Amino acid sequence: AVDVSKLLGKTGLVTYDPGFTSTAACSSAITYIDGDAGILRYRGYPIDELAGNSSYLEVSYLLIYGELPSKDQLASFTNRISRHTLLHEDLKRFFDGFPRDAHPMPVLSSAVSALSTFYQDSLDPHDEDAVELSTVRLMAKVFTIAAYAYKKSVGQPFLYPDNSLSLVENFLQMTFGFPAEPYELDQDMAKALDTLLILHADHEQNCSTSTVRLVGSSQANLFASISAGVNALFGPLHGGANQAVLEMLTQIRDQEDGNVESFVNRVKNREDGARLMGFGHRVYKNYDPRAKIVKQQAETILKKLGVNDPLLDIAMTLEEKALADDYFVERKLYPNVDFYTGVIYRAMGFPVKMFTVLFALGRLPGWIAHWREMMDDPQNKIGRPRQLYTGSAERNYVSLDKR
Ligand code: ACO
Repeated sequence: AVDVSKLLGKTGLVTYDPGFTSTAACSSAITYIDGDAGILRYRGYPIDELAGNSSYLEVSYLLIYGELPSKDQLASFTNRISRHTLLHEDLKRFFDGFPRDAHPMPVLSSAVSALSTFYQDSLDPHDEDAVELSTVRLMAKVFTIAAYAYKKSVGQPFLYPDNSLSLVENFLQMTFGFPAEPYELDQDMAKALDTLLILHADHEQNCSTSTVRLVGSSQANLFASISAGVNALFGPLHGGANQAVLEMLTQIRDQEDGNVESFVNRVKNREDGARLMGFGHRVYKNYDPRAKIVKQQAETILKKLGVNDPLLDIAMTLEEKALADDYFVERKLYPNVDFYTGVIYRAMGFPVKMFTVLFALGRLPGWIAHWREMMDDPQNKIGRPRQLYTGSAERNYVSLDKR
């Protein structure tokens, strides 16, 4: 038996919950998830209704301010964001300092962190006007930073934002366009990306959002807190799953001769710890409501872009086989949102390294909404978990010559 009071250094009730699987660290009015019923709602609105009818900026407004915007509110929000898409020329020079093959996620988090140095009016988290301005600056500039991180990785020149375009169109142009050449925008692609951003926009207390809240609980400003969230998302167990799915599908195509059955058997026999990437979820034990929407998107967008990708066929066969297999059914393993996103991003022309950046663009309004909700919450306290101490009992110092 363990005397927990000794491990804690004090008596009293403390929960020990690695991974916080059953600890609610805050109350929140932003996102509702019922994992058993496969329900996801932002501010009460079902995710499929928002994905089917709304736009990313509309959903961002909803998450951040709590209500769907009126036409005027949306126009004003969009307009304010479009006036902040430019990066300061000195911030642009940061990109010169990163190695050419730098992963775009740490480039993104570094540049977001640096925004605190360019906008020192952002430092007081309780200055409402400053928070409003930081919100708009982030919503605008993160898209430009993401496009420049891509351009840097392929050694191409940066494009200035064109504010006659929507935020997502502008991002696509800055990512895939060239300075002297007109970029032919594909509206279907812009629409599909917009929808994917909506699907990723919030997911309550996931690792990166909890990180944003924890850092912000020390009264760190919005840029510092969001930069920490980007770093949390960088981890392969969080934002990196869409990349892992694509690698798995490629492996099935190249190393298993496209034989889905044999791969599924390897997973079931737990050979080399193989898992079906893009399957299973900590919270959804029925189905992930986002996965259905992404699957439809994948079929539609690949058809519209005229892309015939054998990886999509492999993904669909894999899903079909898994859903009909007792191993996966008994364990309540269903495709999650990331199962099809990689295939879509690939069809759009994004390299694998950019997949997690696209996730970050989507999650941005959720992070901002949670930070702001926390700052307005009178119950907010600095995050400070306890631990169970498992080190040595008290012992006396031994001088260096006796060791
Ligand atoms: N493939 C095969 N078996 C699996 C998988 C999978 N993808 N996921 C879980 N299992 C099995 C486990 O082996 C375990 O079986 P057992 O009870 O016989 O030992 C059982 O299902 C329960 O698994 P846990 O790991 O306890 O489930 P948990 O809820 O902790 O894990 C997770 C959830 C991490 C998402 C897991 O399902 C997984 O690793 N999936 C693949 C990675 C992935 O797609 N991650 C993206 C998540 S969504 C997102 O981040 C946006």
